[in-house]
Amino acid sequence: MYSLLFRLVLARLDPERAHHLAFALIRSVARVPGLRALVAAVLAPSRRQARALRTEAFGLTMRGPFGLAAGFDKNAVGVDGLAMLGFDHVEIGTVTAQAQPGNPKKRLFRLVADRALINRMGFNNDGSAAVAARLAGRRAVFPTTVGVNIGKTKVVPESEAVGDYTTSAGRLAPYADYLVVNVSSPNTPGLRNLQATEHLRPLLTAVRAAADAAEPTRRVPLLVKIAPDLADEDVDAVADLAVELGLDGIIATNTTIARDGLGLTTDRAEIEAIGAGGLSGAPLKDRSLEVLRRLYARVGDRITLVGVGGVRTADDVWERILAGATLVQGYSAFVYEGPTWCRRIHRGLAAKLAASPYATLAEAVGADTRKVTSR
Ligand SMILES: Cc1cc2nc3c(=O)[nH]c(=O)nc-3n(C[C@H](O)[C@H](O)[C@H](O)COP(=O)(O)O)c2cc1C
Repeated sequence: MYSLLFRLVLARLDPERAHHLAFALIRSVARVPGLRALVAAVLAPSRRQARALRTEAFGLTMRGPFGLAAGFDKNAVGVDGLAMLGFDHVEIGTVTAQAQPGNPKKRLFRLVADRALINRMGFNNDGSAAVAARLAGRRAVFPTTVGVNIGKTKVVPESEAVGDYTTSAGRLAPYADYLVVNVSSPNTPGLRNLQATEHLRPLLTAVRAAADAAEPTRRVPLLVKIAPDLADEDVDAVADLAVELGLDGIIATNTTIARDGLGLTTDRAEIEAIGAGGLSGAPLKDRSLEVLRRLYARVGDRITLVGVGGVRTADDVWERILAGATLVQGYSAFVYEGPTWCRRIHRGLAAKLAASPYATLAEAVGADTRKVTSR
């Protein structure tokens, strides 16, 4: 049914317009008490499945391991609607210290044949003061974990990046179940340079301090989100730094600037005409998984890993868990799979676990790597 709706209606609309339309519809349904309860009940896993899926990550108990990646709800306007659809956590943002419009349109493109997207949104968002006020006023209807992803305001020079991030961290930490420092979006000039450890160390240290100052009675978990385009030794360097600083987690990965070696079937000229931006969805899967495996080999259970990039099916989620992810996220496949996506993921994942030698999802985390090393 959704695939028909997608082909006949959504795919004919401009992708950004389709996003706003679909998101507005989700939010409208979530505003009607009887209807939202019905939708949530239909999409929720069974009680037995729900028990099996419950997940602990950086001191938080979540309904399950599967969440919506950053970028879908940049301004925290629809967390309950997304929780209604079954996302076990919703990562809002990226939020910057100053409100900004993002890049000129058109800035979001579909590669339908590849089940991929290219975006150069450029952190269009209301700014951290407005988003903090929105989160402060939120009365949660459905239980879900809310992560808050922060980035740098475009007009702020790289030399003042730390202050920009700490402003947002201070404003948002009180409302965040966890905080993410995003240094990996390709659409803010210079942002990815912050992944170099000489920049990342002072940045993460300052954000930690700002979060602690804003929320002195609760240690808000702090994560960093990295790009799939990092060289392997840079992935290792971030992993080592994360351990050194006592970071709570690493999210791997953001979108890629690569176009080659991804097995794209969309016409080359069409891809070139789209121009710059981060590519997400199915073609990103192999590299994201590779980065995750590398991180797990390096940090093991010392740091929580979040796998994201090209995840579409329950098998994909299971594969990330076996590779070392405690949490798994997706975005692009939501566009192609529609509102019943979480239901399929949860059911499939519960079945995978039941058929596996592991009693809990936590036991399965990293099992692939352990198998290899114990041989
Ligand atoms: C339209 C769009 C906007 C995005 N915006 C953000 C963002 O603001 N911050 C961020 O950290 N990641 C952002 N992402 C990246 C996703 O969170 C995710 O890391 C990436 O898309 C890979 O996952 P996927 O293949 O499941 O889409 C965005 C992705 C898309 C498609």
